[in-house]
Amino acid sequence: MEKQTILEIKGLNKSYKQGREEIKVLENLDFSIRRGEFVSIVGPSGSGKSTLLNIIGLLDHEYNGKVYLFGEDMGKADELRKAELRLMHLGFVFQFDSLLPEFTVTENIEMPAMLLSQKKAKEKIPVKKEAEEKDEGSKTSAAELLKRFNLEEIADKFPMEISGGEKQRSAMMRALRNGPELLIADEPTGNLDPSNSELIMKDLRRIADSGTAVIMVTHNEKSAFEADSVLRMENGRLEKIK
Ligand SMILES: Nc1ncnc2c1ncn2[C@@H]1O[C@H](COP(=O)(O)OP(=O)(O)O)[C@@H](O)[C@H]1O
Ligand SMILES: [Mg+2]
Repeated sequence: MEKQTILEIKGLNKSYKQGREEIKVLENLDFSIRRGEFVSIVGPSGSGKSTLLNIIGLLDHEYNGKVYLFGEDMGKADELRKAELRLMHLGFVFQFDSLLPEFTVTENIEMPAMLLSQKKAKEKIPVKKEAEEKDEGSKTSAAELLKRFNLEEIADKFPMEISGGEKQRSAMMRALRNGPELLIADEPTGNLDPSNSELIMKDLRRIADSGTAVIMVTHNEKSAFEADSVLRMENGRLEKIK
């Protein structure tokens, strides 16, 4: 595996059972992403884009094929290890607002850092060495992120007091809190007006340029083509169209 490769998928097959029938969604699919690469995925509704992101995000392990994160075989990683890897190396942004309503924006952004230190504090849960290393440089505090996103004024507001665009950008800051190498965004602009979508696209470009790989699913062709490469999901496979 190439040194810059963060995630690599080989021969991925995924089907869902519906009653006695099997519905094939992903078929012998290959995919890989390198450090700082910005990839978008387009394709019709129901073609398997979210299914793929769930597997890439280590949220679904019921598949056939190989998934490697930093060369580590995810087929051999247990749930604990995968939870740890998600917290340390992956960030997630979804279409719908996922902020916790009873916490401020700052508290929401700090959540992943709290979870990680809690995990480390519990002796029973072995957090591997890379988690310790992450403390040194790659993490970014909520205050720093808010400054970088030019959103300092919403630091102490609650989710119900901010706009849809601000909520989505707060979710993005939360996803970046632990310094992930890969940001996974499933239709991040799906619910936003054009000017907020544009802001999110600018954020994603900046994130990729700073070295965090970005994989984004979108219905918006214009946004899709702002990525370095564009893949179309069709018949269970990915076809490169840019
Ligand atoms: N949990 C599930 N159980 C059964 N079928 C599912 C499940 N999730 C998705 N599917 C089916 O798999 C196909 C791909 O879904 P999805 O990955 O959500 O597509 P997309 O994100 O491209 O719209 C669809 O036919 C969908 O109905
Ligand atoms: Mg989807």
